[in-house]
Amino acid sequence: MVNKIIVAIDGYSSCGKSTIAKALAKYAGYTYVDTGAMYRAIALYTLHHHLTEEADIIAALPAIQVGFVLVDGAQHVTLNGEDIESQIRTLEVGNAASRVSAIKEVRAFLVAQQQKMGLEKGIVMDGRDIGTVVFPQAELKLFLTATPEVRAQRRYDELLEKGQTPDFSAVLADVNDRDYRDTHRAESPLRQAEDAIVIDNSNLTPDEQMKVIYGLFDKIINLKS
Ligand code: DC
Repeated sequence: MVNKIIVAIDGYSSCGKSTIAKALAKYAGYTYVDTGAMYRAIALYTLHHHLTEEADIIAALPAIQVGFVLVDGAQHVTLNGEDIESQIRTLEVGNAASRVSAIKEVRAFLVAQQQKMGLEKGIVMDGRDIGTVVFPQAELKLFLTATPEVRAQRRYDELLEKGQTPDFSAVLADVNDRDYRDTHRAESPLRQAEDAIVIDNSNLTPDEQMKVIYGLFDKIINLKS
């Protein structure tokens, strides 16, 4: 019998966490969970209901159900049963997610659900606190990083592709601001778990990077079987 494991992927924004997590989940035949999408779903709820006060957001939590559905093989996040995937990848929702994710009660609410999703293992989860808080017992923990300049360049290229006309220094400043917020918030700040394997992908091609990660995964699975 093949032993399933939990893979925790954390790291800075624009490091390609979700691309890597999806590829590894496919390789392993595991379930992929994008925890950032869960924070974005709560953020969307607060925007729809004009909730800005922390106490009001906490009081609304029992009325919020976050889930996932598969649509043509892709995972979409749901909010109270509605597929909201197309609404959550905006700057407005990203900023609101950054705010709601700093609230202790919001984190406890989502972490409990994330832990339930991992009960049967066979899961690849990405976020900021997966290897430190959600699954400190994960068998494979990856911590992704790249220089702020490389990440800003990636985001700049994405914006150009979307037909926007970004300013590189503004994109770089935004990357640095987000890093600061992610690492300095009081509740579960982004930090590397002591037993995480750090992957700096500044100078790795996607193929080179996945080769390293598949190798790490295979090594653990072989040790376990
Ligand atoms: O990865 P993302 O950009 O979709 O995340 C959205 C926001 O949620 C971002 O501000 C970081 C926060 N987040 C978090 O605090 N903990 C997680 N496990 C995942 C995301």
